[in-house]
Amino acid sequence: MKFFIDTANLDQIREAQDMGVLDGVTTNPSLMAKEGISGEQNIINHYKKICEIVDGDVSAEVISTDYEGIIKEGEMLAALHPQIVVKVPMIKDGIKAIKYFSNKGIRTNCTLVFSIGQALLAAKAGATYVSPFIGRLDDISTDGVELIAQIVEMYSYYGYATEVLAASIRHTMHIIQCMEVGADVATCPLDAIKGLLNHPLTDIGLAKFLADYKKLNG
Ligand code: G3P
Repeated sequence: MKFFIDTANLDQIREAQDMGVLDGVTTNPSLMAKEGISGEQNIINHYKKICEIVDGDVSAEVISTDYEGIIKEGEMLAALHPQIVVKVPMIKDGIKAIKYFSNKGIRTNCTLVFSIGQALLAAKAGATYVSPFIGRLDDISTDGVELIAQIVEMYSYYGYATEVLAASIRHTMHIIQCMEVGADVATCPLDAIKGLLNHPLTDIGLAKFLADYKKLNG
């Protein structure tokens, strides 16, 4: 399973990259706003900086909601850097745009996906990634991980190449659950990735190893 980090924070992206397990980055307009990045040129420069830090795919989201606008913006974003994947919302014009991008060899991430029907449309349009938001489903008492499982099974049954990118991951257990149902990618907050490191028996065992070494070696 690939790990993407779901942030526009350059320090966090550097830290995840430095761990050696990062496969890419996802951003969205809310995450860019959280970092105080505004204005087209600043946003473009920020995407370029992210691409310089990581080796893998970097999702950059369009803010247009009409077909022509999505195409214009998506082509501009895709031209910024070969690592850019154009993130397009799950709306009618978005699906049409994903089909256009797919025909042109521009990679896409279909975002704001909350149902298996939406995931089917994204795959049929040729999306590179589909992003079901599991945390937001959990927020409304609907099992987000179950949706990931259903999409993975459906894509496998029909042989769709679209990768299932579990998004809106809130904690470490979400990552484990997505792994168990075969998600291709989990895009996670840095703390959720680092949470995978933790086990009290590791801490206890390491403390004992070091203490035993010190007994004989000073
Ligand atoms: O990848 C989508 C993600 O950024 C949304 O997460 O926590 O706002 O639901 P959240």
